[in-house]
Amino acid sequence: MIFEKIYRLAQLGVSYKLKTLRPLGPPFQFSIEATNKCNFKCAFCPQSSPTHKDIRPVGNLTAANFYFFLKSIKELKHGNRTVSICLDGEPLMNKAFPDFIEIGNELGMMPRFSSNGKLLTPTVTDRLSKFSFLAAVDFASEPRIFDEIRGREGDFEIVLENLRYLISKAKDNPSIRLEIVDITHFSGEVDDVGSLAKMRALFPRDLPPNIQFWSRKFHNFGGHLKNGSKGNSPNHYKLCPYPWTSFHVTWDGDVVACGRNTEGKTVLGNIYRQTIMDIWRGEKYINMRRALIEERVEDIECCKECDMPYSASSGRWRTKYIFSSLLRR
Ligand SMILES: C[S@@+](CC[C@H](N)C(=O)[O-])C[C@H]1O[C@@H](n2cnc3c(N)ncnc32)[C@H](O)[C@@H]1O
Ligand code: SF4
Ligand code: SF4
Repeated sequence: MIFEKIYRLAQLGVSYKLKTLRPLGPPFQFSIEATNKCNFKCAFCPQSSPTHKDIRPVGNLTAANFYFFLKSIKELKHGNRTVSICLDGEPLMNKAFPDFIEIGNELGMMPRFSSNGKLLTPTVTDRLSKFSFLAAVDFASEPRIFDEIRGREGDFEIVLENLRYLISKAKDNPSIRLEIVDITHFSGEVDDVGSLAKMRALFPRDLPPNIQFWSRKFHNFGGHLKNGSKGNSPNHYKLCPYPWTSFHVTWDGDVVACGRNTEGKTVLGNIYRQTIMDIWRGEKYINMRRALIEERVEDIECCKECDMPYSASSGRWRTKYIFSSLLRR
């Protein structure tokens, strides 16, 4: 696997650097959506838009289709054990979600997911606790702010209790990796460093390295954050790497341009009707790559409002960030 990983990462690096329209290798990161239903309406996420549920069909991934997806990506020998079960929605709204973790482990994969934590109850955690997975859960230092920008009144306490239980299980099972991510600073009422320390203090002191705490960097998710639509470097264009690295699939099999395309604005194929490589090297992907190379973001529906190509001065473009995000997903 390590040789495969180095080989695939080298192919990816060369394809991106040379701006090839058909990448030399398969995608390195794969992601599939468990559901696009959500029990929260976070202020920073397109899910909170009143018309969000009318944009594309709402539904659930089935265990059989998840199995089909994993089998298809394993055949590509792409050198990466991690598979993300994430795009839009709250994955735990799908009752089959624990089965996805089990199936992933059975096939030798390391599933990773983000959850808002409300349905990550002790019962669900008990079911998951013998498996390997990575869970990222957004949380906050201030109950009022959490409930205002993320959940409803009382949700902070529910998620806190769920996280404390999950931590107690992750302490005994190092193959559970847990990231608790502070979002309080989105409110503009607190600074990120102080808030992260305050959130950290809500949990036991000496925790093993499989349990990490960090602070979220917000982006202009598909144009949702109107005040940030230009990015911090409007005159400095950088070629977005996602069309050379990652492959994102909705619950009903549509392939979308990236993890920010939760509204399915740009659809590049469907995994139940085409092979992954036919989609990856197909005309729609090629057209998107060509437009991004030629700096014609306005020609790609999901990219035209995105701040990624114009965020050159943000930490996202640092080599260390790019490497760690490639290796984590
Ligand atoms: C779309 S959510 C889906 C999973 C799950 N519902 C959750 O909230 O974790 C996936 C991730 O996107 C993040 N997200 C949503 N809006 C964002 C924004 N404007 N900037 C950065 N991350 C954002 C969330 O914090 C979450 O970690
Ligand atoms: S960030 Fe997650 S929990 Fe919040 S509205 Fe979006 S999908 Fe739902
Ligand atoms: S430019 Fe933005 S929307 Fe387009 S693929 Fe990159 S991250 Fe996604």
